[in-house]
Amino acid sequence: MTLYSRILGTGGHLPRNVLTNQELERMVDTSDAWIRERTGIRQRHIAEDGETCVDLAEVASRRAIEAAGIAPHDIDLIVMATTTPDQTFPSSACLLQNRLDIHGCAAFDVQAVCTGFIYALGIADKFIRTGAATKALVIGAETISRIIDWTDRGTCVLFGDGAGAVVIGAADEPGIIDSHLHADGAYRELLQVPAGIGNGGNGSPFMEMKGNEVFRVAVTTLGRIVDEVLEANAMTRADIDWLVPHQANMRIIQATARKLDLPMEQVVVTVEEHGNTSAASVPLAFDAAVRDGRIERGQTVLMEAFGGGFTWGSVLLRY
Ligand code: ACO
Repeated sequence: MTLYSRILGTGGHLPRNVLTNQELERMVDTSDAWIRERTGIRQRHIAEDGETCVDLAEVASRRAIEAAGIAPHDIDLIVMATTTPDQTFPSSACLLQNRLDIHGCAAFDVQAVCTGFIYALGIADKFIRTGAATKALVIGAETISRIIDWTDRGTCVLFGDGAGAVVIGAADEPGIIDSHLHADGAYRELLQVPAGIGNGGNGSPFMEMKGNEVFRVAVTTLGRIVDEVLEANAMTRADIDWLVPHQANMRIIQATARKLDLPMEQVVVTVEEHGNTSAASVPLAFDAAVRDGRIERGQTVLMEAFGGGFTWGSVLLRY
């Protein structure tokens, strides 16, 4: 019997602190009208001083575990996608494992920036399909505000903090139907944080982005992702009930929906309230639509993301 994985429960968490476009107008030379027109964003949540990525991940994880109807100790794999780990090491997955009082199972971080959750879910699915795990906690969590230059209007209006999580478990039928993961490191100059531990802290510790060039590659690539995943599974656009895209920019989301011929009513959009929460954006959006009853059991969902690296990918699943 082929083993598959399916989603048992979802959870999400946002910091309490909200930063509106109007407040940003007082910080940099921007306007609410410019931000809404170019990105769709109205507000974003920002972690308070002392509130860490693992703090956010813990709340989202506990909600996902509760929704799955299992106990933390039932989990035998933790994969956490983040660009903003609490420490250089231990990994955020290990710190989270300890918070949840889980001991002994594999726990590791995945770094694929905005595509991180898609990578993490694809990896966890393969662990379950091979029988190496039976119940996996998969998290996307970020305190991306900490790598933003709050004087750079080209980036600071776009991002927010948050965490989303799912628990997946072994099943006789999908569940997760397919995943496709890609990267091309040739695009570093368009989107990066130059400084890192390994290069001795050389360069800026903040995000640098050539926004309009990233935009162009993102739209083309996301169109290709849609074709790739549908073709690989002999499906048509009509088979997709819901698109859960990475929430970078409303215009990129609309372009992908057009490619799928999907009306915006079948696209989960949180970018207005959350901004771009990087690896947290897809699981936060998915959790929102599951909890408010839009996404129902048995429906077919396409998740996709594009981000720094560049990295990009998709997960196709039956909820
Ligand atoms: N407020 C007002 N004006 C601004 C702002 C701002 N916040 N930011 C830039 N501008 C100005 C620019 O300086 C420029 O002015 P100029 O014409 O006088 O030179 C003008 O607005 C147009 O700038 P563009 O960069 O061409 O604007 P664009 O329409 O491309 O929108 C944006 C910019 C929103 C950043 C868009 O390019 C975008 O969303 N890019 C993709 C971002 C993305 O998807 N990132 C990938 C994921 S992130 C990750 O992986 C970490």
